[in-house]
Amino acid sequence: IKKLLITIDGPAGSGKSTASKALARELSYLYLDTGALYRAIASKVIKEKKNPDDEQAMQDLTNSLNLRLEAECGVLRIILDNEDITDHLRTEEVGLMASKVSSLPRIREVLLPIQQKFGCCGGIVAEGRDMGTVVFPNADLKFFLHATVSERAMRRHRELIEAGLPSQLEIVESKMELRDRQDTERSIAPLKIPADAVVIDSTALAFEEVVAAMLNAVK
Ligand code: C5P
Repeated sequence: IKKLLITIDGPAGSGKSTASKALARELSYLYLDTGALYRAIASKVIKEKKNPDDEQAMQDLTNSLNLRLEAECGVLRIILDNEDITDHLRTEEVGLMASKVSSLPRIREVLLPIQQKFGCCGGIVAEGRDMGTVVFPNADLKFFLHATVSERAMRRHRELIEAGLPSQLEIVESKMELRDRQDTERSIAPLKIPADAVVIDSTALAFEEVVAAMLNAVK
């Protein structure tokens, strides 16, 4: 059977990551989390206390970037400056900074070949904002997953509380709206529905139903 190149795009909190991971597992495909690459750069910006609006500082940071991906049991690990930082990237602070640095053309340019390298031979589920539009326009199957902002904020809020972290629903929702705006209004590779995508609204769907709909489309 041909191994497909599948893309999943959508806004923050739409359930993309969980669905992509589950789909990749069901199909025994590799899961490519491209948000983690932008988050890795964001974490470096935060750690080195750089100003994302300072063009020269961002240029220097990009030019000296030592970022690579390593496959481990079907999951890609993010290695920055020879350190595995995969498990330290999921905070909202890093997410918001990722959204900011991801509007810089030079950063998108540097990350493009790192992502495309994995698409050559199929057998991959690639998740992000511009997978079906820019990085893999010729993907075999494209999904766009969305949900209302209040539902997405509620899900993120629950996740944070379950993880024992402090969270206020209104703050989560306003940060999510800000990130949506930054991601959809940027001039380069904005978040939008690929013309040939299967669109799934997950607002009223359980996670299992989203994955089932995706598997159905694969078949
Ligand atoms: O998906 P995740 O929340 O990890 O992404 C973090 C940020 O990285 C997004 O808000 C978006 O601005 C950026 N991103 C992007 N293109 C991608 C994946 C993520 O611009 N393919």
